[in-house]
Amino acid sequence: MNELKIFCPATIANVSCGFDVLGLALDTVGDEMTIRKVSKKGVVITKIIGQKLPLETLNNVAGVAALALLAETETDFGFEIEIDKRIKPGSGIGSSAASSAGAVWAINELLGKPFGNTDLVRFAMEGERLATGVAHADNVAPALFGGFTLVRSSQPLDIISINTPSELYATVIHPQIEVKTSDAREILKTNIPLKDAIKQWGNVGGLISGLYTEDYDLIGRSLEDYIIEPIRSILIPAYDAVKQNSLKAGALGCGISGSGPSIFALSKGEETAIKVAESMKSVYEKVGIDYDIHISKINKQGIKVLS
Ligand code: HSE
Repeated sequence: MNELKIFCPATIANVSCGFDVLGLALDTVGDEMTIRKVSKKGVVITKIIGQKLPLETLNNVAGVAALALLAETETDFGFEIEIDKRIKPGSGIGSSAASSAGAVWAINELLGKPFGNTDLVRFAMEGERLATGVAHADNVAPALFGGFTLVRSSQPLDIISINTPSELYATVIHPQIEVKTSDAREILKTNIPLKDAIKQWGNVGGLISGLYTEDYDLIGRSLEDYIIEPIRSILIPAYDAVKQNSLKAGALGCGISGSGPSIFALSKGEETAIKVAESMKSVYEKVGIDYDIHISKINKQGIKVLS
Protein backbone atom coordinates (compact mmCIF):
# COMPACT_ATOMS: atom_id res chain seq x y z
CA MET A 1 0.00 0.00 0.00
CA ASN A 2 1.56 3.27 -1.17
CA GLU A 3 -1.39 5.67 -1.20
CA LEU A 4 -4.47 6.36 0.91
CA LYS A 5 -7.46 8.62 0.34
CA ILE A 6 -9.18 9.47 3.60
CA PHE A 7 -12.08 11.40 5.14
CA CYS A 8 -10.94 13.62 8.03
CA PRO A 9 -13.88 14.65 10.20
CA ALA A 10 -14.79 18.08 11.47
CA THR A 11 -14.96 18.16 15.27
CA ILE A 12 -16.70 20.10 18.02
CA ALA A 13 -14.27 21.03 20.78
CA ASN A 14 -15.16 22.08 24.33
CA VAL A 15 -18.77 20.72 24.10
CA SER A 16 -19.90 23.63 26.33
CA CYS A 17 -18.53 22.73 29.76
CA GLY A 18 -15.20 21.12 28.79
CA PHE A 19 -12.95 23.94 27.56
CA ASP A 20 -9.78 22.41 26.06
CA VAL A 21 -10.66 18.90 27.35
CA LEU A 22 -13.84 17.60 25.64
CA GLY A 23 -14.49 17.01 21.95
CA LEU A 24 -16.55 14.98 19.52
CA ALA A 25 -16.24 13.95 15.86
CA LEU A 26 -18.80 14.64 13.12
CA ASP A 27 -19.79 12.41 10.23
CA THR A 28 -21.24 14.60 7.49
CA VAL A 29 -18.61 17.31 7.28
CA GLY A 30 -14.88 16.88 6.85
CA ASP A 31 -11.91 17.19 4.50
CA GLU A 32 -10.58 14.64 2.06
CA MET A 33 -6.86 13.98 1.89
CA THR A 34 -4.65 11.81 -0.29
CA ILE A 35 -1.31 10.76 1.18
CA ARG A 36 1.26 9.07 -1.04
CA LYS A 37 4.55 7.38 -0.23
CA VAL A 38 7.33 8.67 -2.54
CA SER A 39 11.03 7.87 -2.91
CA LYS A 40 12.21 11.42 -2.05
CA LYS A 41 12.60 11.93 1.70
CA GLY A 42 10.58 14.62 3.49
CA VAL A 43 7.02 15.92 3.19
CA VAL A 44 5.65 17.87 0.21
CA ILE A 45 2.16 19.40 0.03
CA THR A 46 1.47 19.00 -3.69
CA LYS A 47 -2.07 20.34 -3.95
CA ILE A 48 -4.72 22.13 -1.90
CA ILE A 49 -8.19 22.70 -3.31
CA GLY A 50 -11.22 24.34 -1.69
CA GLN A 51 -9.38 26.98 0.37
CA LYS A 52 -6.37 29.24 0.00
CA LEU A 53 -3.81 27.77 2.41
CA PRO A 54 0.00 27.67 2.38
CA LEU A 55 1.67 24.90 0.40
CA GLU A 56 5.04 25.28 2.17
CA THR A 57 5.44 22.27 4.46
CA LEU A 58 6.56 24.32 7.47
CA ASN A 59 3.66 26.77 7.11
CA ASN A 60 0.99 24.10 6.68
CA VAL A 61 -0.49 22.30 9.70
CA ALA A 62 -0.57 18.95 7.88
CA GLY A 63 3.08 19.37 6.90
CA VAL A 64 4.21 20.28 10.42
CA ALA A 65 2.27 17.41 12.01
CA ALA A 66 3.67 14.95 9.44
CA LEU A 67 7.23 16.14 10.11
CA ALA A 68 6.68 15.69 13.88
CA LEU A 69 5.81 12.03 13.24
CA LEU A 70 8.69 11.42 10.81
CA ALA A 71 11.15 12.92 13.32
CA GLU A 72 10.48 9.84 15.48
CA THR A 73 10.95 7.25 12.68
CA GLU A 74 13.77 6.07 10.45
CA THR A 75 12.59 6.11 6.83
CA ASP A 76 14.47 6.46 3.56
CA PHE A 77 11.39 7.61 1.69
CA GLY A 78 8.96 10.53 2.03
CA PHE A 79 5.32 11.54 1.59
CA GLU A 80 3.20 13.75 -0.67
CA ILE A 81 -0.03 15.25 0.66
CA GLU A 82 -3.06 16.49 -1.31
CA ILE A 83 -5.82 18.27 0.60
CA ASP A 84 -9.40 18.80 -0.53
CA LYS A 85 -10.27 21.38 2.12
CA ARG A 86 -13.99 21.33 2.78
CA ILE A 87 -13.94 22.68 6.36
CA LYS A 88 -13.55 26.46 6.30
CA PRO A 89 -10.65 27.78 8.38
CA GLY A 90 -11.82 29.86 11.33
CA SER A 91 -15.24 28.19 11.39
CA GLY A 92 -14.89 26.58 14.83
CA ILE A 93 -15.26 22.97 13.74
CA GLY A 94 -11.66 21.88 13.77
CA SER A 95 -10.43 22.84 10.32
CA SER A 96 -6.72 22.75 11.20
CA ALA A 97 -7.20 19.64 13.36
CA ALA A 98 -8.72 17.67 10.46
CA SER A 99 -5.66 18.32 8.27
CA SER A 100 -3.14 17.63 11.05
CA ALA A 101 -4.90 14.47 12.23
CA GLY A 102 -5.44 13.21 8.66
CA ALA A 103 -1.77 13.60 7.73
CA VAL A 104 -0.40 11.70 10.72
CA TRP A 105 -3.10 9.02 10.66
CA ALA A 106 -2.50 8.18 6.97
CA ILE A 107 1.30 8.24 7.26
CA ASN A 108 1.09 5.92 10.27
CA GLU A 109 -1.06 3.50 8.22
CA LEU A 110 1.38 3.63 5.28
CA LEU A 111 4.27 2.90 7.68
CA GLY A 112 2.47 -0.19 9.07
CA LYS A 113 1.10 1.48 12.22
CA PRO A 114 4.20 1.96 14.39
CA PHE A 115 2.34 4.51 16.56
CA GLY A 116 -0.80 4.33 18.70
CA ASN A 117 -3.56 6.95 18.74
CA THR A 118 -2.16 8.92 21.69
CA ASP A 119 1.18 9.36 19.87
CA LEU A 120 -0.73 10.46 16.76
CA VAL A 121 -2.56 13.07 18.87
CA ARG A 122 0.80 14.30 20.12
CA PHE A 123 2.11 14.74 16.54
CA ALA A 124 -1.13 16.34 15.31
CA MET A 125 -0.99 18.82 18.21
CA GLU A 126 2.08 20.35 16.54
CA GLY A 127 -0.24 21.38 13.69
CA GLU A 128 -2.55 22.98 16.27
CA ARG A 129 0.42 24.82 17.75
CA LEU A 130 1.17 26.30 14.31
CA ALA A 131 -2.48 27.24 13.70
CA THR A 132 -3.38 28.72 17.08
CA GLY A 133 -0.18 29.22 19.04
CA VAL A 134 -1.32 26.59 21.57
CA ALA A 135 -0.96 22.81 21.16
CA HIS A 136 -4.46 21.92 22.39
CA ALA A 137 -5.71 18.36 21.78
CA ASP A 138 -9.48 18.68 22.07
CA ASN A 139 -10.07 18.71 18.28
CA VAL A 140 -7.36 16.29 17.11
CA ALA A 141 -8.27 13.70 19.77
CA PRO A 142 -11.86 13.07 18.58
CA ALA A 143 -10.71 13.23 14.92
CA LEU A 144 -8.24 10.39 15.64
CA PHE A 145 -10.16 8.35 18.26
CA GLY A 146 -13.71 9.00 16.97
CA GLY A 147 -16.77 9.64 19.16
CA PHE A 148 -16.40 11.73 22.31
CA THR A 149 -12.98 12.17 23.87
CA LEU A 150 -11.66 13.62 27.11
CA VAL A 151 -8.16 15.07 27.34
CA ARG A 152 -7.66 14.17 31.02
CA SER A 153 -4.13 15.57 30.88
CA SER A 154 -2.06 17.13 28.13
CA GLN A 155 1.27 16.81 29.97
CA PRO A 156 1.72 13.88 29.97
CA LEU A 157 -0.89 13.23 27.32
CA ASP A 158 -3.79 11.10 28.58
CA ILE A 159 -6.75 10.78 26.21
CA ILE A 160 -9.89 8.87 27.22
CA SER A 161 -12.51 7.63 24.74
CA ILE A 162 -15.99 8.30 26.12
CA ASN A 163 -19.11 6.30 25.29
CA THR A 164 -21.24 7.84 22.52
CA PRO A 165 -25.01 7.35 22.90
CA SER A 166 -26.37 6.01 19.61
CA GLU A 167 -29.30 8.44 19.28
CA LEU A 168 -27.18 11.56 19.73
CA TYR A 169 -27.12 14.03 16.80
CA ALA A 170 -25.32 17.33 16.38
CA THR A 171 -26.61 20.38 14.51
CA VAL A 172 -23.98 22.98 13.67
CA ILE A 173 -24.62 26.41 12.16
CA HIS A 174 -21.73 28.48 10.85
CA PRO A 175 -22.51 32.18 10.38
CA GLN A 176 -20.20 33.31 7.58
CA ILE A 177 -17.68 35.25 9.58
CA GLU A 178 -14.20 34.08 10.57
CA VAL A 179 -13.04 34.00 14.19
CA LYS A 180 -9.37 33.15 14.68
CA THR A 181 -8.85 30.75 17.58
CA SER A 182 -5.84 32.79 18.70
CA ASP A 183 -8.06 35.92 18.95
CA ALA A 184 -10.83 34.00 20.73
CA ARG A 185 -8.26 32.74 23.28
CA GLU A 186 -6.72 36.16 23.78
CA ILE A 187 -9.93 37.63 25.20
CA LEU A 188 -10.37 34.92 27.86
CA LYS A 189 -9.72 35.62 31.54
CA THR A 190 -6.84 33.71 33.09
CA ASN A 191 -8.50 33.54 36.53
CA ILE A 192 -12.01 32.31 37.22
CA PRO A 193 -14.20 32.68 40.32
CA LEU A 194 -14.38 29.53 42.43
CA LYS A 195 -18.21 29.56 42.31
CA ASP A 196 -18.11 29.31 38.48
CA ALA A 197 -15.45 26.58 38.58
CA ILE A 198 -17.66 24.54 40.94
CA LYS A 199 -20.66 24.76 38.59
CA GLN A 200 -18.45 23.96 35.58
CA TRP A 201 -16.80 20.82 36.97
CA GLY A 202 -20.20 19.65 38.19
CA ASN A 203 -21.30 19.81 34.55
CA VAL A 204 -18.20 18.04 33.20
CA GLY A 205 -18.85 15.15 35.60
CA GLY A 206 -22.56 15.20 34.75
CA LEU A 207 -21.90 15.15 31.02
CA ILE A 208 -19.46 12.23 31.22
CA SER A 209 -21.90 10.30 33.41
CA GLY A 210 -24.80 11.11 31.08
CA LEU A 211 -22.81 9.91 28.05
CA TYR A 212 -22.03 6.57 29.74
CA THR A 213 -25.51 5.94 31.12
CA GLU A 214 -27.12 7.31 27.92
CA ASP A 215 -29.21 9.61 30.10
CA TYR A 216 -30.19 12.29 27.59
CA ASP A 217 -31.77 14.59 30.20
CA LEU A 218 -28.57 14.56 32.25
CA ILE A 219 -26.57 15.29 29.08
CA GLY A 220 -28.85 18.28 28.45
CA ARG A 221 -28.62 19.62 32.01
CA SER A 222 -24.83 19.40 31.85
CA LEU A 223 -24.41 21.29 28.55
CA GLU A 224 -23.90 24.67 30.24
CA ASP A 225 -20.75 26.75 30.14
CA TYR A 226 -20.35 29.36 32.90
CA ILE A 227 -16.79 30.34 32.05
CA ILE A 228 -16.07 30.72 28.33
CA GLU A 229 -19.48 31.29 26.70
CA PRO A 230 -20.27 34.59 28.45
CA ILE A 231 -17.07 36.07 26.99
CA ARG A 232 -16.90 34.51 23.54
CA SER A 233 -20.60 34.69 22.67
CA ILE A 234 -20.16 38.43 22.16
CA LEU A 235 -18.14 37.63 19.00
CA ILE A 236 -21.02 35.63 17.46
CA PRO A 237 -23.94 37.39 15.76
CA ALA A 238 -27.39 36.69 17.31
CA TYR A 239 -25.89 34.03 19.58
CA ASP A 240 -28.57 34.21 22.27
CA ALA A 241 -31.41 34.03 19.75
CA VAL A 242 -29.89 30.95 18.04
CA LYS A 243 -29.44 29.26 21.41
CA GLN A 244 -32.94 30.06 22.66
CA ASN A 245 -34.51 28.93 19.37
CA SER A 246 -32.66 25.63 19.35
CA LEU A 247 -33.63 24.85 22.96
CA LYS A 248 -37.26 25.70 22.13
CA ALA A 249 -37.06 23.34 19.13
CA GLY A 250 -36.08 20.50 21.47
CA ALA A 251 -32.27 20.49 21.60
CA LEU A 252 -30.77 18.95 24.73
CA GLY A 253 -28.26 21.78 24.90
CA CYS A 254 -26.57 24.40 22.73
CA GLY A 255 -23.20 26.15 22.87
CA ILE A 256 -20.23 27.56 20.97
CA SER A 257 -18.43 25.02 18.81
CA GLY A 258 -14.73 25.26 19.63
CA SER A 259 -13.68 28.89 19.55
CA GLY A 260 -16.67 29.81 17.30
CA PRO A 261 -18.30 31.34 15.40
CA SER A 262 -20.11 28.03 14.74
CA ILE A 263 -22.85 27.20 17.22
CA PHE A 264 -23.69 23.56 17.95
CA ALA A 265 -26.66 21.85 19.52
CA LEU A 266 -27.01 18.22 20.57
CA SER A 267 -30.35 16.45 20.18
CA LYS A 268 -31.83 13.04 20.79
CA GLY A 269 -32.72 11.68 17.35
CA GLU A 270 -32.37 13.01 13.81
CA GLU A 271 -35.89 14.39 13.65
CA THR A 272 -35.22 16.82 16.50
CA ALA A 273 -31.79 17.71 15.07
CA ILE A 274 -33.52 18.72 11.80
CA LYS A 275 -36.09 20.86 13.70
CA VAL A 276 -33.22 22.49 15.58
CA ALA A 277 -31.50 23.26 12.25
CA GLU A 278 -34.66 24.97 10.98
CA SER A 279 -34.94 27.02 14.17
CA MET A 280 -31.29 28.12 13.96
CA LYS A 281 -31.57 28.99 10.25
CA SER A 282 -34.64 31.18 10.88
CA VAL A 283 -32.58 33.48 13.12
CA TYR A 284 -29.89 34.18 10.50
CA GLU A 285 -32.46 34.45 7.73
CA LYS A 286 -34.28 37.14 9.70
CA VAL A 287 -31.11 39.17 10.34
CA GLY A 288 -29.69 38.52 6.84
CA ILE A 289 -26.50 36.64 7.73
CA ASP A 290 -25.28 33.88 5.39
CA TYR A 291 -24.61 30.52 7.00
CA ASP A 292 -23.65 26.89 6.44
CA ILE A 293 -25.53 24.26 8.37
CA HIS A 294 -24.67 20.64 9.15
CA ILE A 295 -26.67 17.86 10.76
CA SER A 296 -24.65 14.84 11.79
CA LYS A 297 -24.69 11.72 13.86
CA ILE A 298 -21.69 11.53 16.17
CA ASN A 299 -18.91 9.82 14.20
CA LYS A 300 -17.70 6.93 16.36
CA GLN A 301 -14.92 5.93 13.97
CA GLY A 302 -13.06 9.19 13.34
CA ILE A 303 -10.91 9.19 10.19
CA LYS A 304 -12.20 6.85 7.46
CA VAL A 305 -10.47 5.31 4.44
CA LEU A 306 -12.17 6.28 1.16
CA SER A 307 -9.85 4.35 -1.20
N1 HSE B 1 -10.39 24.45 23.01
C1 HSE B 1 -10.04 25.30 21.93
C2 HSE B 1 -10.58 26.69 22.20
C3 HSE B 1 -10.62 24.75 20.66
O1 HSE B 1 -11.75 26.79 22.52
O2 HSE B 1 -9.83 27.66 22.09
C4 HSE B 1 -10.34 25.58 19.45
O3 HSE B 1 -10.98 24.98 18.35
